[in-house]
Amino acid sequence: MEKQKLVINGGNRLEGEIAVHGAKNSALPLLSATVLVSEGECVLHNCPKLTDVDYAMRILSCIGVKCKREGSTVIADASVAENTEVPQSLMREMRSSIVFLGAMLGRMKSCKLSFPGGCELGPRPIDLHLSALREMGAEITEQHGFLMCTAPKGLHGANISLSFPSVGATENIMLAAVRAKGVTQIHNAAREPEICDLAEFLSGCGAKVHGAGTDIIIVEGVKTLHGCEHRVIPDRIVTASYLCAAACCGGELILSGANAEHLGQMIPILQSMGCKIYSFGKDSIYIRVTGRLKAPQTIRTMPYPGFPTDAQALIMTATTKAQGTTVFVENIFENRYRHVSELRRMGANIKVEGKVAVVEGVDRLYGSELQATDLRGGAALVLAALSAEGKSVVTKLCHIDRGYENIERSLRLAGADIKRV
Ligand code: UD1
Repeated sequence: MEKQKLVINGGNRLEGEIAVHGAKNSALPLLSATVLVSEGECVLHNCPKLTDVDYAMRILSCIGVKCKREGSTVIADASVAENTEVPQSLMREMRSSIVFLGAMLGRMKSCKLSFPGGCELGPRPIDLHLSALREMGAEITEQHGFLMCTAPKGLHGANISLSFPSVGATENIMLAAVRAKGVTQIHNAAREPEICDLAEFLSGCGAKVHGAGTDIIIVEGVKTLHGCEHRVIPDRIVTASYLCAAACCGGELILSGANAEHLGQMIPILQSMGCKIYSFGKDSIYIRVTGRLKAPQTIRTMPYPGFPTDAQALIMTATTKAQGTTVFVENIFENRYRHVSELRRMGANIKVEGKVAVVEGVDRLYGSELQATDLRGGAALVLAALSAEGKSVVTKLCHIDRGYENIERSLRLAGADIKRV
């Protein structure tokens, strides 16, 4: 796997249709939520085939949840889930494995998980998750890299105010609260579409969740949950990636299965750069790009509905060849400019000072040997290579495969010269 690389000959316009798969960041908390369902099967459609989703399914199997995949549908039966320990090796593979904490505490009242630690985006603390769960009655101690968690009297509702609208903490609290005793209020909750998707799934299972999508979520605990069928929302960051691919290369793309309503500022920013974008209901987006793009206004990453940090590297790639200067302010993660040094090697003119990056548009990028630095940064390098002159080779594909189902196939079908060797 590690030896695989993408070989890309840049310069082709993109034209055709790309199907957008289900959202990784929805599928992971949804799979975790199945742990709470003790009656009947959960059927998740549009569940993307990604390495992170495979890890989540392996974690479920360790806990005792029977889990199988049929095409893009995952079926999970948690009627006898009772194992309270997840091996360290699995926890380490995926930082977002921490989202199993709330669900396991809610179902088994105890669990032992290894501390997820940092990741390629810098330190990723979980203090907000832990303090909220403690307010709900959990006793959590940290011992030699492990989190030992119990709720001897069961979890109870609480009034929780998050100092930052953390996506993962909001999800963990929702998961812990649905079967807790009493009512939980989450103030300053994250408002991402993935939160709404989780609330919708939990409601389908019989949970009482109100206010998802606003900054106050109220959960009334229920005794049991039953299985249901649910369709995972389309991946908004994969959608953003292919929109940026068209912006980088020029051409015309239809993104089927994509929901423009989840893209927030992405579409107006691409339009301000000169892209023509039209959306058709909640399930397809058309983009046409001709001529040189203009630099957009300052891009500041913010919690939803602000500009997503996950799309920062992608749109930066599109600005490297735009006319004018673009300023980026990365407000969410401290180490999220690791793709910049790779883009510079291709001829991009980018300066970074702390959380600010300044991109001066250049006439062209040149193919190079590139290493994916993280998931979205890696995808951004693929886009840069597609729009560069000459040949590029991208390595460390394990990062990209965490979040894109066969990225090379989607792009090749749209006319790109890209292959995995
Ligand atoms: C989720 C997404 C990730 C996205 C991020 C921000 C998943 C699986 N991942 O990650 O792709 O980039 O949202 O949109 O859905 N923080 C704390 N203490 C905490 C928790 C978070 O200080 O207890 C800080 C983080 O260090 C970071 C910020 O809050 O600076 C945002 O993190 P958070 O919203 O929690 O992101 P994740 O849920 O980890």
